[in-house]
Amino acid sequence: MNLYDRIPNNVNLSEDKKLLRALEKWLPNYLDWWREMGPEGFQDKEVWLRTAVDVGSEGWAHFDYVKMPDYRWGIFLQPAQADAKVGFGDNFGRPAYQEVPGEFRNSLRRIIVTQGDTEPASVEQQRQLGSTCPSLYDLRNLFQVNIEEGRHLWAMVYLLHGYFGRDGRDEADALLERRSGNPDKPRILEAFNQPCDDWLNFFAFTMFTDRDGKFQLSALAESGFEPLARTCQFMLTEEAHHMFVGDTGLGRVVRRTAQLMKEAADFFAAGLKGRYKEQEQYKDHLAANDSFTLLVVEDGQLKPREVPLRNALNEVLRGEYVKDCEKGLARWNKILAEEGLTDRLNLPSPRFHRHVGEYAGHDFDLMGNLITTEEFERRRSESLPTIKDREYVRSLMHSVTQPGKIANWIAPPATGVKGKPFEFEYVRL
Ligand SMILES: [Fe+2]
Ligand SMILES: [Fe+2]
Repeated sequence: MNLYDRIPNNVNLSEDKKLLRALEKWLPNYLDWWREMGPEGFQDKEVWLRTAVDVGSEGWAHFDYVKMPDYRWGIFLQPAQADAKVGFGDNFGRPAYQEVPGEFRNSLRRIIVTQGDTEPASVEQQRQLGSTCPSLYDLRNLFQVNIEEGRHLWAMVYLLHGYFGRDGRDEADALLERRSGNPDKPRILEAFNQPCDDWLNFFAFTMFTDRDGKFQLSALAESGFEPLARTCQFMLTEEAHHMFVGDTGLGRVVRRTAQLMKEAADFFAAGLKGRYKEQEQYKDHLAANDSFTLLVVEDGQLKPREVPLRNALNEVLRGEYVKDCEKGLARWNKILAEEGLTDRLNLPSPRFHRHVGEYAGHDFDLMGNLITTEEFERRRSESLPTIKDREYVRSLMHSVTQPGKIANWIAPPATGVKGKPFEFEYVRL
């Protein structure tokens, strides 16, 4: 594997001329997209970035200054396992699918396109954030995340070109044509059409939305279609860094807030009060014949309903997601305790403020109790950020780009990147 290959890869691209040609044709369109929709205002700056050159631990460690459009987006799959099997479902134990099975072709393409669409969408959502970065360290981390989301797009496009023929090629082109928030050609999922216009939003996105992505990718990493499984396994290792950025970013905001609250108790009181949380009781069954108890609204009340587990797998996955989020909250509550505050942060109930799924169309308080729409509206400002809250957050977003300096609303990181100090010049401006 040569780092300076045009498209670094561990899929023997140089021997698959047809695929290589297809990807080399897609590459300039990708670069046009990156220049148009990638981070605004920093395309010609040198950024101290990590480039994946292999899937082994060493392949992870390559750091250097690089201008983002010169970044080498590669294609990396976790190594194949000898005689891989389909690990679940009705074809359990049969050889893993090395080619797309005809009967699953449409579903599989849809899964890959939906996943692939989120990757450039997040880059588009975050493209203005550089102008309000709290520090060079954070600016560099934003660009690392953006670059890797670009690589995840490459990963999905590799599958589309490599395994889906002509319609795969059309889908790969369409991934560069949709735009986040564009009413005429929006991104597929609604969460990826909202702008991400302040850093609190960015840290929350990388903590929670990327974590949702982790669970989607984990499910795909189990796929019986082996190339998809191996692609997603490697993407998960990058996703871990994105969640690190969100988790520690919010943790640092919590720390700085605690420090400022101690200095001036009422200065930061707005919007950061801990909330009472209801404990969810998901039963975690794995066998196909099991059932799952879902709380549903019936006759104006929450009542348990038994459903076949196979119909509730998304709910099970959501339960795992919530548990994982709770760990982040526990880390941030530890920071509050360390700083001597008694305030604690809590996640809202999974029923709170839902627009899709079982709980859409009903109103719940933060603890998951069914309430009337009138009561929800009356208490709206207690449970959701108001326009004033958002404006206040936005008023704090001013860029700080001197090495070693940091904005007043966030604490410095515990350590720098790859052994460098916080004062290191992570981005040369
Ligand atoms: Fe991603
Ligand atoms: Fe990500």
